[in-house]
Order: sequence, then C-alpha cells, then structure tokens
Amino acid sequence: MYSALISVALCGVQVAKSHGIQLRLQESSRPYVLQQNWGAYAPYFPLDEYVSPPTSCEINQVNILQRHGARYPTAGPAASIASAVSKLQSVASFQDQSLDFIHDFTFNLGTNDLVLFGAAQSLASGAEAYNRYGSLVSEDNIPFVRASSSDRVVKSATNWTYGFSAASSLRFNPVLSVILDESANDTLHDTCNNIGNSDNQTETWIDIYTPPIVKRLNDAAPGANITSDDVFSLMTLCAFESVATEAVSDWCGLFDEGEWKSFEYEMDLDKYYGNGYGQPLGPVEGVGYINELIARLTSTPVNDSTQTNSTLDSSSITFPLNRKIYADFSHDNQLIAIFSAMGLFKQPRALDPTNSNSGGANRSWVTSQLVPFSGRMVVERLACRESHREANEAYIRILVNNAVQDLDFCSGATSDGLCRLDKFVESQSFATSGGDGEWQKCF
Ligand SMILES: *[C@@H]1O[C@H](CO)[C@@H](O)[C@H](O)[C@H]1NC(C)=O
Ligand SMILES: *[C@@H]1O[C@H](CO)[C@@H](O)[C@H](O)[C@H]1NC(C)=O
Ligand SMILES: *[C@@H]1O[C@H](CO)[C@@H](O)[C@H](O)[C@H]1NC(C)=O
Ligand SMILES: *[C@@H]1O[C@H](CO)[C@@H](O)[C@H](O)[C@H]1NC(C)=O
Ligand SMILES: *[C@@H]1O[C@H](CO)[C@@H](O)[C@H](O)[C@H]1NC(C)=O
Ligand SMILES: *[C@@H]1O[C@H](CO)[C@@H](O)[C@H](O)[C@H]1NC(C)=O
Ligand SMILES: *[C@@H]1O[C@H](CO)[C@@H](O)[C@H](O)[C@H]1NC(C)=O
Repeated sequence: MYSALISVALCGVQVAKSHGIQLRLQESSRPYVLQQNWGAYAPYFPLDEYVSPPTSCEINQVNILQRHGARYPTAGPAASIASAVSKLQSVASFQDQSLDFIHDFTFNLGTNDLVLFGAAQSLASGAEAYNRYGSLVSEDNIPFVRASSSDRVVKSATNWTYGFSAASSLRFNPVLSVILDESANDTLHDTCNNIGNSDNQTETWIDIYTPPIVKRLNDAAPGANITSDDVFSLMTLCAFESVATEAVSDWCGLFDEGEWKSFEYEMDLDKYYGNGYGQPLGPVEGVGYINELIARLTSTPVNDSTQTNSTLDSSSITFPLNRKIYADFSHDNQLIAIFSAMGLFKQPRALDPTNSNSGGANRSWVTSQLVPFSGRMVVERLACRESHREANEAYIRILVNNAVQDLDFCSGATSDGLCRLDKFVESQSFATSGGDGEWQKCF
C-alpha cells in the first residue's frame, strides 16, 4: 500500500508536469500559453523559479495557503454551458467545418468536484512542500493542516498530505486536522452576506469583446442564436474539458489568442470587483485569516473579532502555535480577499471595465497568476543574522505561485522581498483593527 502511495504521488508530479507540456500550444519570444489565459480556471503554473532566501537567513516557519486543485464547473455555469452547447447542436449543418466536432460532442462533465488532475496537482504540491521545506519537519513537528469544508477543498488537502508523506518516504505523515464549516464564519471561505458582485464590470467587458465572436459563431451556425454570455460559457468549456480530460479540448480552437486574452481580462475584472480591491466588502473577508497568520508568526494567541471561530482558535489541539509548517486549503475568492486585505497586488488604478490595456504592460492583477487551480501563497518566517546585533532578527518573505513578492506595503522591505516581522505586523492594521468596522457592514 505504501509503495502504491508513493507511485501515486510521483505520478501526480508527472501528470502535473506533462500536463503543462501537453497543453503548450506555441512558443515565441513572448510565449503565449493557452491555459495561462484561463483566469481562475487556469491550472497552477509557477511564475518563477524558487529563489532561496539570503544565506544570512534561515527559514523557521512556513505558512501555506492554497486553493483547491482543478475542478468541474459549478452547477450554475454547467447549466449555462449545456444550454450554449445545445443551441449549437440544434443546427443541422454548419457553414464552417471547424464546428463539425460539435455534432459528435457530448457534454458530460461532472459538477463541483475535484478532477483527477486537480488531485494530482495537490499531491504534487504536497511533495514539493516536503522537498523544499522538509528540513523543518521532525517526528514531533509535522505540518498542521486545515481545510474549508467543501468536498473539493477537503480532498485537495488530503491529497496534499499524501504527497507530503510519499515524498518523505512515509517518515512524516501529516493529516487533515481541522475542517472549517462553510455554513458558519470561516477564515478559509468568504462569508460576508452583504458583499456586492462584479456583474456590472464583467458584463460591460463581455459586451465589448464578444460581439465579433457572437457574429462569427452565428454565421457559422445559422439559427443557433448564440449570445455574448454563451460565448463566455463556451470559452469556459474549453478550460473545464481540458482539465477534466488532460488534453486540449476541441472547443479551445474556436477562439484565437487575442480572444483568450480578453477572456482572461473578464476573469481579472471578476476577481478585482468581486472580492478584491474593487469590492467595498471584499478585503474584509480576509481579515480573520491574517489575524491567524499573525498569531502563528508571532506565537501569540489569535486576537480577532471577525471570521475566526474562537473555540477552535483558542485550543492548542485545533490551533497549535508551535508548528513549523502550516497548510490551509481554501477557495479562489478567499485567497483574493486575503491578498487584498494584506496589501498584495495593489494596483495604481482600478481596473477599467472598458479597456483591458488601461493598466499598462505591468499590471500585476492577472487572475490566472493570482488564483489558478492549486494556486498558493507561502509566507516564510526567517531568522536573519545582522552584523550589528547579537540576536537574530525575525523577518518574513511572501511567495505567490513561487514568485517572491516585493512587500511595498511593509516599511523597510528589501529588494529581495524580506521585511521585518514586527513591521509586517504593523502594516496589517486593517486586519488587526478587525477590518476598520467593515465586517459589521456584512450583516
Ligand atoms: C484525492 O482526490 C481524489 C479526487 O477527488 C479522491 O478520489 C481521492 O480520495 C483523494 N485522495 C486522498 C488521499 O485524499
Ligand atoms: C458571522 O458573524 C457575524 C457577526 O460577526 C454574525 O452576524 C453572522 O450571523 C455570522 N454568520 C454565520 C453564518 O454564522
Ligand atoms: C456600472 O458601472 C458604471 C461605471 O462605473 C456606472 O456608471 C453604472 O452606474 C453602473 N451600473 C450599475 C447598474 O451599477
Ligand atoms: C433562434 O431564434 C429564432 C427566432 O426567435 C427561433 O425560431 C429559433 O428556435 C431559435 N433557435 C434556437 C436554437 O434557440
Ligand atoms: C466553532 O467550531 C465548532 C467546531 O467545529 C462548532 O461546533 C461551533 O459551532 C463553531 N462556532 C461558531 C460560532 O460557528
Ligand atoms: C514595466 O516593468 C519593467 C521591468 O520591471 C520596467 O522596466 C518598466 O519601466 C515598467 N513599465 C511601466 C510602464 O511601468
Ligand atoms: C485585540 O485587538 C483589538 C482591536 O481589534 C485591540 O483593541 C486589543 O488591544 C487587542 N488585544 C490584544 C491582547 O492585543
């Protein structure tokens, strides 16, 4: 059984790797990779090679916050996809042969659940965590793991633990210790009742980028009456079928590179205005997690009046403070809220729903790079030697999808992404104040 687990984990790493290669369509000087334009439906890809901290620093704690792996569409979008597909299938004969595959197509994806590739992503990331941070672990200090209660999040967490065990040759076997109930306030799930949505912004953009596609499809499929929203659904079908079958879906070929970039921008707007900086009650959803993170980083009890469950967080069984690796599993919207509460990826200007180029070439708010399937933030705590001091100083460093963040919100942050832990805590006054009164507006 043990060797079977190891081969499953290794296979996870293989599948995750080969998937990237399989789906790589073309490369140029600025590589365009199809699935890196799928917004929140993009599979995780590292944005950088992992860079070790400076040699004067030693990592002594790691906090991983990770989105579940690739999944099927949720129920509402699945119904919209089915409707768009059946409109096309009602057309007896297409004017363009590239649509002919549609007559043989059956839409039979599941809903909500993690797909096998998503499980493999989670296994692979557990193995990667062991390979990168295994020296922190000992028999009496193994990773402490929590998950929000959705089935796909729980399965991502347990697959991660198996990947971690397997990579350690079963020496260290973390288990999922706490499942946070999504029907209650939960630091790993968005729970603000009065939060708004991004419909205005996303519909504005969909109405700008889809009309040429609507016309093209209706010319090719006369009488199908494809709408702008159908186009969006069919583009998501490309992503969902690809991650479910681990091969590029035929639907992907109906859209060109520029159209995929526009699709990504829809997703960028969706997260920005749905749970990010463009949503008045978005960032406050991330406050509870940040207060938990501060508790772990500073080894002091959680002080929070928002999403935390004080029964769980005041117990050393369900919220231990002495661990070296913590791994928490959650959802895209919650990661976005946490980034925005913390100050990561703040944009110089709000995203313009009418113009995907308004942010300039360096816009860092790109959903496929923030919260792809299995996307992750890692907060490393480090002890650094400083020439003028006896004792080591505590620092932190934050990586999102393997890229070191510049922490410009943290005073004194260095160019290699280090910031003193006390300055980081100071920078988190939005969280430590309980969200400046915004949490109360949620109910
Ligand atoms: C991993 O995920 C798959 C797919 O959801 C699931 O069937 C399996 O039980 C999970 N394995 C573990 C060890 O959690
Ligand atoms: C979450 O907490 C708020 C108060 O902070 C409360 O009004 C609300 O009912 C709670 N939500 C749930 C789902 O328990
Ligand atoms: C949508 O957003 C635009 C631009 O921000 C604004 O002028 C308009 O009133 C909004 N419409 C609705 C229905 O909120
Ligand atoms: C498209 O619209 C026309 C006119 O309203 C209608 O007769 C036809 O049934 C529609 N086709 C589909 C596939 O819904
Ligand atoms: C806190 O978590 C415990 C254990 O899951 C649960 O029984 C309790 O209802 C939760 N409290 C609140 C206020 O949600
Ligand atoms: C974009 O980033 C590059 C590299 O960091 C920098 O040289 C350039 O000035 C930036 N451009 C803008 C418009 O900010
Ligand atoms: C807990 O946080 C509140 C603000 O939300 C603050 O007033 C209080 O002093 C903090 N308590 C401790 C023990 O730090």
